[in-house]
Amino acid sequence: MKKISLGLIGFGTIGTGVVKLLNENGSLISERLGIGVQLSKIADIDIKRSRGIPVDQGVLTTDAYEILNDPHIDIVIELMGGYEPAKTFILEAINRGKHVVTANKALLALHGNEIFNAAVKKGVNIGFEASVGGTIPIIKTIKESLVANKIRSLSGIVNGTSNLILSKMTDEGKAFDVVLKEAQSLGFAEADPTYDIEGIDAAHKLAILLSLCFGKKVRLEDIYREGISHISEQDIAFSKELGYRIKLLAIAIERPEGIEARLHPTMIAFDHLLANVNGNFNAFHLMCDAADSVFLFGQGSGMMPTASAVLSDIADIARDIRKGIAGRIPPRVLDEEGIGDIRLMPFDQIRTSYYFRFSAVDRPGVLSRISGILGANDISIKAVIQKGRGVGESVPIVMTTYKARECDVRKALADIDRIDVVMGKTMLIRIEDDNC
Ligand code: HSE
Repeated sequence: MKKISLGLIGFGTIGTGVVKLLNENGSLISERLGIGVQLSKIADIDIKRSRGIPVDQGVLTTDAYEILNDPHIDIVIELMGGYEPAKTFILEAINRGKHVVTANKALLALHGNEIFNAAVKKGVNIGFEASVGGTIPIIKTIKESLVANKIRSLSGIVNGTSNLILSKMTDEGKAFDVVLKEAQSLGFAEADPTYDIEGIDAAHKLAILLSLCFGKKVRLEDIYREGISHISEQDIAFSKELGYRIKLLAIAIERPEGIEARLHPTMIAFDHLLANVNGNFNAFHLMCDAADSVFLFGQGSGMMPTASAVLSDIADIARDIRKGIAGRIPPRVLDEEGIGDIRLMPFDQIRTSYYFRFSAVDRPGVLSRISGILGANDISIKAVIQKGRGVGESVPIVMTTYKARECDVRKALADIDRIDVVMGKTMLIRIEDDNC
């Protein structure tokens, strides 16, 4: 049986998962592909630490160039993460005519265009299924299964850590800080959780998905991003009362004015499929012109689920190698010729529904002042809840709205927050009733 040779750069958690999966299912994979798959070299700065799996010591090296310069290696698997030297290694591998598989979402979100162009020019494959949604085949689904469709919208839960935190806040009624500490002590959240809780990781994934669905490149800083660290247990309780659950959603919608792309905590109806994706799971909902509604669900992270996605890319490339072809499926769904940059719709022009929580002194006339400002800014109120009575103290007043324009909402809230009886900054959470 013909054999293909793999070189792995980065022997961390996912790298270990890849080696483990090859140890356990390597023969099955080779049988399915009709081609042998052999891991020839593994490069990492630490080759001493035990990974708890059997590894042939002869394949380990601290020098990634032993992989890049080895003419027998067909596929370079980059699992070291970060920008550099990962980018250099990937480009060097491509320049040497090697196919590449990577899970590096931060790198692809920022430099995907350059890397994809280099791969297309050189006629090699680049697989990155593991970069978004872990084990969920969202990239293959968009590029291959839905190739005959116009994707009208995509909404996704793309960060397991923040979904776990929001789920626990909802189910256990605990505060954000308490749940975050618990998640950290159980190893579900990083010691520095910024990337996950401030939506940075999720924005990277949204940028990659946008480039697959809608065009060439998007500047990360042009995507509206808001994390979950300001969500209080009070907001969770009100959302339940209103029939919603709060999820950190990545949203992309095709509009006549351009692509609406945003990432923020979102209230969705409690019976929506996405509202019922809990714990550290990820999910995607796509609305397409022909396929209609498509929903994908699964583990978005973790050693073995992510390794499964890496191996699926390796299998695709191995099948192409067996047939003597490459570049059959381009990195993006759109043909490289004439592919344009993505035209994003200005965020302040989006129209959605809103939840506001005002902190206001409990006194006659306060509601009419707030609703007067909302009305003057073309914002129509759908429901109002006031909890408790506090003589001379502030009480929470919650309002939901019908669809309004983001710029009108911002102007109205700036005016409301200046009223003497409104204490502190108003909390705003967007509600999606029909876009997702
Ligand atoms: N840290 C990510 C998450 C997984 O919590 O989903 C890797 O992208």
